[in-house]
Amino acid sequence: MCGIVSYTGHSQAAPILLDGLSKLEYRGYDSAGLAVRNGENKTRIVKAKGRLKALAEKTDNGHALAGTCGIGHTRWATHGEPSETNAHPHTSDNGNVVGVHNGIIENYQELKNKLLRKGYEFYSSTDTEVAVKLIDYYYKKYEHTPVDAINHAMVRIRGSYALAIMFQDYPGEIYVARKDSPMIIGVENGDCYVASDVPAILKYTRNVYYIGNLEMARLANGTVTFYNLDGDEIEKKPTQIKWDAEAAEKAGYEHFMLKEIHEQPKAVQDTLNSVLKDGAIDLSSVGLTEEELQSFSQVYIVACGSAYHVGVACQYVLEDLAQLPVRVDLASEFRYRSMPLDPNGLVIVISQSGETADSLAALRLAKKKGLKTLGIVNVVGSSIAREADNVFYTLAGPEIAVATTKAYSTQLIAGYCLAVQFALVRGCISKGRYQDLISQLQCLPEQIQKILDDKERIQWFAAKQANARDVFFIGRGLDYAISLEGSLKMKEISYIHSEAYAAGELKHGTISLIEDGTLVIGVLTQSELYEKTISNMVECKSRGAYLMGLTTYGNYNIEDTASFTVYVPKTEECFATSLAVIPLQLMGYYVSVAKGLDVDKPRNLAKSVTVE
Ligand code: G6P
Repeated sequence: MCGIVSYTGHSQAAPILLDGLSKLEYRGYDSAGLAVRNGENKTRIVKAKGRLKALAEKTDNGHALAGTCGIGHTRWATHGEPSETNAHPHTSDNGNVVGVHNGIIENYQELKNKLLRKGYEFYSSTDTEVAVKLIDYYYKKYEHTPVDAINHAMVRIRGSYALAIMFQDYPGEIYVARKDSPMIIGVENGDCYVASDVPAILKYTRNVYYIGNLEMARLANGTVTFYNLDGDEIEKKPTQIKWDAEAAEKAGYEHFMLKEIHEQPKAVQDTLNSVLKDGAIDLSSVGLTEEELQSFSQVYIVACGSAYHVGVACQYVLEDLAQLPVRVDLASEFRYRSMPLDPNGLVIVISQSGETADSLAALRLAKKKGLKTLGIVNVVGSSIAREADNVFYTLAGPEIAVATTKAYSTQLIAGYCLAVQFALVRGCISKGRYQDLISQLQCLPEQIQKILDDKERIQWFAAKQANARDVFFIGRGLDYAISLEGSLKMKEISYIHSEAYAAGELKHGTISLIEDGTLVIGVLTQSELYEKTISNMVECKSRGAYLMGLTTYGNYNIEDTASFTVYVPKTEECFATSLAVIPLQLMGYYVSVAKGLDVDKPRNLAKSVTVE
């Protein structure tokens, strides 16, 4: 939510800032702005409502703003409507302090009142303007020392922030501070970069520093100096980012989402390979020992969005294979429920970004309660990855489209590997079955590829659904978990109302919504539940529904019931989600394309949800 990029160095800043922001537009895209200064000159600020394109046009792709030091921002509105006035950067009354911010300042009203009493005036409805003016207030109070000004403001601010600030008295310098909102710093050949996420600066550097919570940094003359809250200097070592820059480009695909859908065979393979050694699962890189796997009596899975759907799927798999009690919770619910937690429990937090505010808060709560925590995370060095006791990194590479596809698929793989290993060390499966499950996992990349090779049929069918008003996804057991993700993919990018229902539950209310022609998609990958779901589909058909079936090759009698069927290859039934989800991702994608919508940046959404 909101993207920040900053640069100070030898090149012109504005084009670098715009380029970086274009990689962060998935974090928010209702307005954008730049502040650039040229040596001792006064800082120039340009803002535009709407997509980044508007800002690029206004600044002649950055060329109209001369200067080698600057800060940029792309916004996802929290306080104050999307408008040019509310867009960042924000500035103090005399232009002394200029800043951009990602996060939410919870006590902004109280701070605003204090500043109003001190004679400050406000032009926007944002909490960011309050933060900038608070820093200005302390800057004037504490002898014009930026670090002291910022740390005094940090002590007063409640909430979350990643801030990048320029001071008129300090040309060529950028100051940053962070609490609970992501921010990285890159250094290369005497140039310094700041970004909310790696893809923004990957083209320029792979040497990044992770700035910790309640820490500050000063970027000047190609070096970074870090400070703690007391203003004392602290040492940090850079980390090498392994993602390649091309991975964050569209590579000829029309949309990032389509590219990322096609990257799934490789992402799944890479994630699998990261824990497979000599034909067995080796969790030593994750840091979980066999004794630990044996000792847990309960697993809690906590996540948001699609990562939560991965949790729902993995619950079935873990329970089935390892006979372990599993509880799945939405992070935003988990953190506010005072439920008794099993002290021998393992809390697994699943998150692509590793920064989702509710997931991070749930992780902290679990740690506070003394439970062991494991993060399944894609972004190396993100907050959840750093704070969890153990991390299983998914190797999806940078995911840019707001609607997740490849990160979701790799999270599933992490969940399967854990389940299979749990099952073996807890004596729930034989060595033979273990080998068999691993062989099935190894077939998944090729099977996913096979589904992708046959995507034209889905494209054709999806194009005909562009005018649908409602779509229902139904399934039982794991097929219900698959339906949840299929339904989310549909609604979030096509804006068609869709719901996922446990097929057996339809009769308890939802079936009254079925009308002539309503599309009902039945997911049937679980043989034991096949006939039951077919019956539920027939019930819908009797009430006028138009049926699509999604099942495995061989179940051809579904054609007696459904008007259109998609088949996926057979796999171990507990891994079926990995295959069945692919046609549903393609469905959502092609319906959105058919409607002419902005697939990668659906309205009102942001990829990284760093506010509650
Ligand atoms: C947003 C994204 C979803 C994602 C969810 C959780 O809503 O659009 O695709 O599943 O956040 O994000 P995380 O980074 O924690 O996986």
